[in-house]
Amino acid sequence: MITVTDLRKVYQQGKKEVVALDGVTLSVPKGSIHGIIGHSGAGKSTLVRCLTLLDRPTSGSVSIDGTELSSVRDSEIRAARRRIGMVFQHANLMDSRTAAGNVAHPLELVKTPKDKTRTRVAELLKLVGLEGFENAYPSQLSGGQRQRVGIARALASEPEVLLCDEPTSALDPATTNEILDLIQELTSRLQLTVLIITHEMNVVKRVCNSVSLLSRGRIIEHGALEDVAGELDSQLARALLPLPPSFPLPGPLQRGPVLEIVFSGDSAKEPVLTGVARHFDMDINVLAGSVETLGGQQFGHLRVQLAENSDVDGVLGYLTDRGISARRVAPVAGAAPEFPDTLPDPDLPDPVVPNQGLHPTKEQGRHE
Ligand SMILES: Nc1ncnc2c1ncn2[C@@H]1O[C@H](COP(=O)(O)OP(=O)(O)O)[C@@H](O)[C@H]1O
Ligand SMILES: [Mg+2]
Repeated sequence: MITVTDLRKVYQQGKKEVVALDGVTLSVPKGSIHGIIGHSGAGKSTLVRCLTLLDRPTSGSVSIDGTELSSVRDSEIRAARRRIGMVFQHANLMDSRTAAGNVAHPLELVKTPKDKTRTRVAELLKLVGLEGFENAYPSQLSGGQRQRVGIARALASEPEVLLCDEPTSALDPATTNEILDLIQELTSRLQLTVLIITHEMNVVKRVCNSVSLLSRGRIIEHGALEDVAGELDSQLARALLPLPPSFPLPGPLQRGPVLEIVFSGDSAKEPVLTGVARHFDMDINVLAGSVETLGGQQFGHLRVQLAENSDVDGVLGYLTDRGISARRVAPVAGAAPEFPDTLPDPDLPDPVVPNQGLHPTKEQGRHE
């Protein structure tokens, strides 16, 4: 269990103060994976440095299983740091050492006896699926294999917490998934507490139990994956269940109101749309949709258009009564993000513009 309470870090830049972390509070239970997602400059690296004691927080606390890390004396920092294993974006291996030599390094630093080191290194390499690669040098390994060595090295000192800083940003999609699955397997097998810093939503979707959105040094949204995904207005939900852009269909429905709906858990299994169609005796067109499994639950995100002059409030009430998030949106909604798998920019205005003119004059979201 790692607990961060009201963590602040203020840098002095000449006469100017830069608030890199502005009261970050989070807690991650043992055996679970928490994702921290945020744009460049949000404070992610500062958070990593404060958690690993490479930087001292200005105020606030970091504790592992109740032991306060931020108040340890300088002489004890090394020992405290061993409770947190670090996995880096580029594995950061020593080129002149073999896979075994890299994994052995942290054990040598604390003067572990040679034979004990040898057994432990073999165990660790087996754990990450690299049996038989003991004598390979980093240059002879693929990106995914190098990251496996990095993970084995991070686990050498038997840490309780694994802190992964963009662990898959340098990997292709297939290897990314392999490494994420390995992290997930190790988390439950070794009962680790894992924090993954990332800007890729796919990482959050695949392995995280909970997620925090960091913006300008503050956590502006957070929660269990299945909870944040169901909150239609949240940036995290929009990033977790993105919809392609859509335009009103030609024909009789063209002027009808447009709704966005998020089904989750049990409600995803019910035929809600046909329920609405029958109950209100109306036609419904699906303009866009996506279905995902998040935190082991099914989620569906739909943009639908109702017939003109529909009882919008009635439909919204019908859906809310059944525990389904729904809201009215502008007819041209959800312009495609530039990088569909990354986070929407918090500085951009919310695309929801109720009661906007029905006929767009220009395609939205396209930049010349
Ligand atoms: N050593 C430093 N001195 C002054 N300002 C810093 C320092 N490190 C980071 N910052 C500032 O703190 C903010 C957060 O930076 P950082 O933690 O690197 O963000 P991220 O990793 O999310 O891109 C930025 O405004 C950055 O300019
Ligand atoms: Mg950074």
